[in-house]
Amino acid sequence: MAVLGIEGTAHTVGVGVVEADPDAPGRCRVLANVRDMVRPPRPESGEAAAGIHPREAAHHHAEVGPELVRRALDEAGLEAADLDGVAFSQGPGLGPCLRVAATMARALSLRHGVPLAGVNHCVAHLEIGTGLTGADDPLLLYASGANTQVIAHVRGRYRVFGETLDIGIGNGLDKFARDNGIPFPGGPRIEQEAARVGPEALHPLPYTVKGMDLCFAGTAIAAQRLVDRGVPFPEACYSLQETAFASLVEVAERALAHTRKQELLLGGGVACNARLQEMAREMAEARGASFHCPPRPVLVDNGAMIAWTGLLKLRAEGPTAVADSAVRPYERTDAVEVTWR
Ligand code: ATP
Ligand code: FE2
Repeated sequence: MAVLGIEGTAHTVGVGVVEADPDAPGRCRVLANVRDMVRPPRPESGEAAAGIHPREAAHHHAEVGPELVRRALDEAGLEAADLDGVAFSQGPGLGPCLRVAATMARALSLRHGVPLAGVNHCVAHLEIGTGLTGADDPLLLYASGANTQVIAHVRGRYRVFGETLDIGIGNGLDKFARDNGIPFPGGPRIEQEAARVGPEALHPLPYTVKGMDLCFAGTAIAAQRLVDRGVPFPEACYSLQETAFASLVEVAERALAHTRKQELLLGGGVACNARLQEMAREMAEARGASFHCPPRPVLVDNGAMIAWTGLLKLRAEGPTAVADSAVRPYERTDAVEVTWR
């Protein structure tokens, strides 16, 4: 069973093709995974960089999307009519971008008579992790641009045990980077800068954990104050990372203890960060839990994760009718009925 998936919730448009691994039940095989990202114009020196404009991002996705579909099918060695499903990111995300992905998926589905599947983007970040790493029933630390959640499957749904009360951690990193002239995505550059210094560079910053929930906006603003006060940029990056990641790992540990899950899985673009991986692994192993993190191309937004979740959903409940395929910009992780577990 081969399914093509189209991701288009925000900055990235991605197309992936996956199939179920015939040798390992529950595991996924990625046949193709191609993507392209909208890049806001580079700032003049000394100027803050621009953010993502939803309409411009949607325009970009519509322009490059069809070519990505062709490339993904070529890489997978398939024709559209050979597909057993076409999945798309139905939500949550930026409305104009979601509508482009949904339109492409409906067109492919109707033109080639292939079943359609609308899937939740956050759930897809989790499913691709279990599909590729061998984790079976993990606690997911989902750290991306717009979202920061600690999620686990309990009684038929993915329940959110803790989440950010203000901005996603990636958006916090990106905003801090942007204010310092670094274009989107800022996370990787902050990681490089932070790696230039060590623990002696740690400046205290606001650390906010409320129950199992988190806040990042104040931490990012205070990190900017360090820069404004003349603290070297790498030290500010280091302090921001250590403080924000420590709060993520604290909440994940509490959720592991609460749910008694034995596996910790990372997902979302910020999980590409080697320091976050190191802190999360250390915490998991200290508790006797196993640590799992899929490869970078499926951590950031990508079509393969949409395809894989679509495959699971199609197998369990059949196709999404076109009439039910309207986009859901605000759909929450815990609103999805998980029929395939
Ligand atoms: P969401 O899943 O919430 O819709 P998204 O679509 O913005 O969010 P992803 O593609 O999963 O997100 O992640 C993008 C984010 O990951 C950006 O904020 C980017 O800065 C961050 N990121 C990527 N690589 C790194 C890194 N090495 N360190 C820290 N952050 C990183
Ligand atoms: Fe994402």
